[in-house]
Amino acid sequence: MSKNVAVSTQGPLRSAGMPDPPSPYSISSTSSESSAPSTSVPGPSVGGPVEKGSVTDRRRAESLLVAENISKRFGGIAALSEMSLTVDRGEAVGVVGPNGAGKTTLFNCLLGIEIPDTGRIIFDGKRIDNLPVYKRARMGIARTFQRLELFSEMTVREHLLLAQRSARGRVSLLADLINHGSASKAEEELADHLLALLKLEDVADTAVDGLSLGHGRLVELGRALAMSPKLLMLDEPSSGLDYNETKALTKVLEQVREEQGVAVLLVEHDLEMVSEVVSRLYVLDFGRLIAEGMLDDVLSDTGVRQAYLGQVASGEGQR
Ligand SMILES: Nc1ncnc2c1ncn2[C@@H]1O[C@H](COP(=O)(O)OP(=O)(O)OP(=O)(O)O)[C@@H](O)[C@H]1O
Ligand SMILES: [Mg+2]
Repeated sequence: MSKNVAVSTQGPLRSAGMPDPPSPYSISSTSSESSAPSTSVPGPSVGGPVEKGSVTDRRRAESLLVAENISKRFGGIAALSEMSLTVDRGEAVGVVGPNGAGKTTLFNCLLGIEIPDTGRIIFDGKRIDNLPVYKRARMGIARTFQRLELFSEMTVREHLLLAQRSARGRVSLLADLINHGSASKAEEELADHLLALLKLEDVADTAVDGLSLGHGRLVELGRALAMSPKLLMLDEPSSGLDYNETKALTKVLEQVREEQGVAVLLVEHDLEMVSEVVSRLYVLDFGRLIAEGMLDDVLSDTGVRQAYLGQVASGEGQR
């Protein structure tokens, strides 16, 4: 087994499923808004053996996002059990696992859509587990959902403009009506920049209900980027896309990361997409972390191949 991957196979899976670069459009964080204390808690000692799912003191201090021991039950279902995860500044991290593994539950707990039963979440050095969704968003966490959540009658450009205002807490329906929704020069410039980056210029003034799903996913991505996030969270962005659309989205994601250096947490079934975007990977099954480590180590690890890819040691999985 590779030295960089921690694996615990608890049963077969059912299917395959940098320093912070300055953002050109940074928004300020909301340190005064958090009622939770900034963290300083005991953890595994530095230099000791690193357990699967544990967060070392160094990672706890330096990471952009730290989630520790997150559990969530829905009635009798343990959707997520003691999941821990970190994302460094500017890093791209993947979470994979079969249907029902708990990926969206983790995603929603990190965003504040679900309240975890246990654990805590630290973002950019501050506890966020008591903060509502919008405050986490203003601190720099942006997301796209597994199912498209766009305003059908709004145009692509309007989505990008509105997202900038909501990131700054400046959404006012009354003011926008009086001003006829007029945007500032800076807001227009960022919208134009994102339209070009995402190759959405041709549909900029089209209402989103007239767009393909592939375009819709790009609009969701653009809306997230319009918030100038430190962390971009994507839940199954390839969902419903064909091969070529997935390839195009992957390429755009790579360009976005190259240009903006934003950290990414990618929840995805499509292992090809995951392999092209992330450098580190967590594998969930039945709500439990079964493996974590550098991408190549996890994907080539015999235990993960046996459990996740269903390749029982028949020679192919042996190293
Ligand atoms: N709101 C809810 N109420 C009840 N059960 C839920 C709820 N949300 C999720 N679950 C259950 O929790 C488990 C984890 O679901 P989750 O949606 O997190 O999985 P997932 O890994 O995102 O799956 P998929 O790949 O299909 O998107 C599943 O058994 C699911 O049925
Ligand atoms: Mg899901």
